[in-house]
Amino acid sequence: MRYQALRGTNDILPYQASRSEHTFDSCFWQFLEQAFLRVSSRFGYEEIRTPILELTDLFVRSSGDTSEIVSKQMYSFLDKGDREVSMKPEGTAPVMRAYLEHSLGAAGSPTRLCYFTHIFRYERPQKGRYRQAHQVGVELIGSPTPAADVEVIEVACRFYEEIGLRDLTASVNCIGREADRARYGEAVLAQVQSYLKDQSEEFRAQATKNPLRLLDTKVPELRAALDGLAPVLDFVSDESRAHFDQVQAGLTEAGIAFQVDPSIVRGLDYYTDTVFEVHSTSLGAQSTLCGGGRYDNLIDSMGGKSTPSVGFGAGIERALIVLEAQGLLPEAPRPDFVLVNATPGATPVTQRLARELRAAGFSAITDVDGRSLKSQLKAADRLRARYAIIVGDDEIGQGTATVRDLASSQQIAVAQDHLVGQARSGFAF
Ligand code: HAM
Repeated sequence: MRYQALRGTNDILPYQASRSEHTFDSCFWQFLEQAFLRVSSRFGYEEIRTPILELTDLFVRSSGDTSEIVSKQMYSFLDKGDREVSMKPEGTAPVMRAYLEHSLGAAGSPTRLCYFTHIFRYERPQKGRYRQAHQVGVELIGSPTPAADVEVIEVACRFYEEIGLRDLTASVNCIGREADRARYGEAVLAQVQSYLKDQSEEFRAQATKNPLRLLDTKVPELRAALDGLAPVLDFVSDESRAHFDQVQAGLTEAGIAFQVDPSIVRGLDYYTDTVFEVHSTSLGAQSTLCGGGRYDNLIDSMGGKSTPSVGFGAGIERALIVLEAQGLLPEAPRPDFVLVNATPGATPVTQRLARELRAAGFSAITDVDGRSLKSQLKAADRLRARYAIIVGDDEIGQGTATVRDLASSQQIAVAQDHLVGQARSGFAF
């Protein structure tokens, strides 16, 4: 039996000149991770890594039991100790659990955390939507101010700038506090009353429990029934509206292009006031690159003291898809040197030269299989190395090495003792 990766999961492989739709290249992955860590650390965020498994209740309590993620998509099971556990479907709740468990806020507010995480959601896989996906994200914990919202949105935008993405739209909205949303929920139910009449009892019960979930629907009849519904922004308090005005002013001041999109409500229950998403026109159906917002009640709902916070999560696979579609993937890294034995007796010399080159910070690959000269040179081309360093009987006799530029095929003889020095300063072909 030949095994295959599970549907909706992808292998992340070494660079391939032409890759299949279901794989990603690890070098581009590293490029994104490093860019993210650079940008978030410029803003003072420090990395946190949390376990893949958590108690299921953590997600039920935080994301909401009527959210699509919790009700349909979690990978949950009983562990051998009969505990209900789940593979994390998102990164925020585990970070908040760790924040409380380790009293990370004790050092003073606010706490800035960033992460790179797997997420697991049993979704219908398609390009840009997977069952195992990856996010980078930040959480700014312990600040209620509009400036905190602006900072988090700015981190997301600067990350995309850093990796060179263009044609992005940042969309923001304000969904108010719990009481505002309760009133809005009533308006939603009133709007779709005649549609609900013909639905199952179970559907009606779900809708009544969390009417805002209806807004995510793709069912055409329900979409039609929702037509003409006033946006949630019409229902928020003066305080929330003033906060939102200041967020918009702050974004303008930061030079961030954005639009207000009254249709953004987000699929997780923990949000309050500001929510935002970044979209790309190159992504097709799965156009959301990044989503986040403020979640002032999450930490109290987990047993901590009230700690207003804001954050975002950004899909890594989606960023890579857009980079590729826009022809913006950086050049894949290439090894500097492949050392080639033109005679079996050259092995100790090439091994020594490779060690010297590595100690100087270059990458240097040696032949460990005693292959022919021809097949070693072929391998150097396949590896896309910059230079081959060839050592045969003549070079051993003269204490030299032949350096060949593999792109131009030009070559020169260099004294073995000067190889590292010349590699540093550039070879004079
Ligand atoms: P989310 O909107 O569920 O938010 O996910 C954030 C991003 O993760 C999405 O915009 C998308 O790029 C990516 N993503 C989500 N699911 C998948 C999937 N199945 N396949 C590929 N990419 C996916 C959250 O997860 C929140 N924790 C964000 C947050 C942090 N809010 C506050 N702090």
